[in-house]
Amino acid sequence: MQKAHDKGHASLLATIVVTGVLGAVVVGSTFALRPPSSTGADALPAEATEAYGRQLLRETPKFLGPDHPDPQRRYSGTQMACASCHLEIGADPGTLSLLETSTRYPRFMGRDGGVRDLKDRINGCMQRSMNGRALPRDGIEMIAMEAYILSLGERFAAMGKTRRTPSEQAEFVEPNRRANVDAGRVVYEERCAVCHGGDGMGLSATTDPSDGYLFPPLWGPDSFNNGAGMHRVLTAARFIKARMPLGAADLSDDEAYDVAAYMNSHPRPQMSGLERDYPDRATKPIDSPYPPYADEFPVEQHRFGPFAPIREYYENR
Ligand code: HEC
Ligand code: HEC
Repeated sequence: MQKAHDKGHASLLATIVVTGVLGAVVVGSTFALRPPSSTGADALPAEATEAYGRQLLRETPKFLGPDHPDPQRRYSGTQMACASCHLEIGADPGTLSLLETSTRYPRFMGRDGGVRDLKDRINGCMQRSMNGRALPRDGIEMIAMEAYILSLGERFAAMGKTRRTPSEQAEFVEPNRRANVDAGRVVYEERCAVCHGGDGMGLSATTDPSDGYLFPPLWGPDSFNNGAGMHRVLTAARFIKARMPLGAADLSDDEAYDVAAYMNSHPRPQMSGLERDYPDRATKPIDSPYPPYADEFPVEQHRFGPFAPIREYYENR
């Protein structure tokens, strides 16, 4: 049942391009089957269940957002949801799926320079993708999110081979050139602005910001911060090629690359302390958009390419 509903979300959104954005607001808000009354600190579920974890990933701003009535619970700095990037609440196979995440942790994480577990990884997205602060490791919300992500692992194990195969485009192949921000603007205006807005700020689901977005922002004050994975051009291009425009992903490698650069050429929240990332700088991804680096290439080249010379430099060291 839930799965069918999740699938419906993506195909509904695909029809929005046809229906027009105003119609979408109405359809979108009636479509979202929200639980009747779960807003406010007094209505919190008492248990760290998988179901609560799922709700937290899907309706993050309602429970942890910057407008939460209890300031203590304002962990997220954005009205986006985890599911804004982890599509179908992480349950869809393929790019940014969380189905196999449970098998990947604990592991060594170059960004932190140490072994990190799933809770640390969730907090990585809290502090960067969600531009917020870390959840307490032993709190109900963290335990519930972890339980939900572990349950996705069980779901994956039980899935047939065909359902494990992502229904998405061929993997992104990086063009051997600098990304063209002007060409990216053209792609954006033709293929993205109808949903994400001419100004990139997205569209809220209702007049209550804690109801989150129908279309999340791609830049600006309520977007992911500059330390987030989506702020890396190659990570963003991979996601965009596989998934966007939602329900009709058909961009070429060149278009995905350029529109990712266009998206990431705009202002967004800045995270402090990024110079401490990747204590071993040689492990820093070549498209990390912030210094310092273990090479002499300019920041601009790490942001927008061309990446082949940087990759060659590290391969030949
Ligand atoms: C702006 C997009 C975005 C949002 C919003 C977001 N994430 Fe992520 N998340 C990413 C990206 C990108 C990666 C992978 C980065 C990489 O390439 O290593 C990731 C990775 C993860 C991983 C590790 C997956 C794995 O298999 O290794 C977990 C767990 C995760 N996110 C949980 C969350 C949770 C929980 C939230 C909400 C609190 C959230 N994310 C919000 C973009 C996002
Ligand atoms: C049909 C509407 C639609 C179109 C067109 C569309 N998107 Fe999206 N996009 C969405 C929705 C909706 C989400 C959030 C996922 C969800 O709620 O299921 C999203 C999520 C994203 C995200 C991750 C979340 C965030 O806000 O950072 C990025 C990045 C993104 N889109 C980029 C693009 C780009 C680039 C294009 C144009 C090539 C595009 N999208 C076209 C609807 C659309």
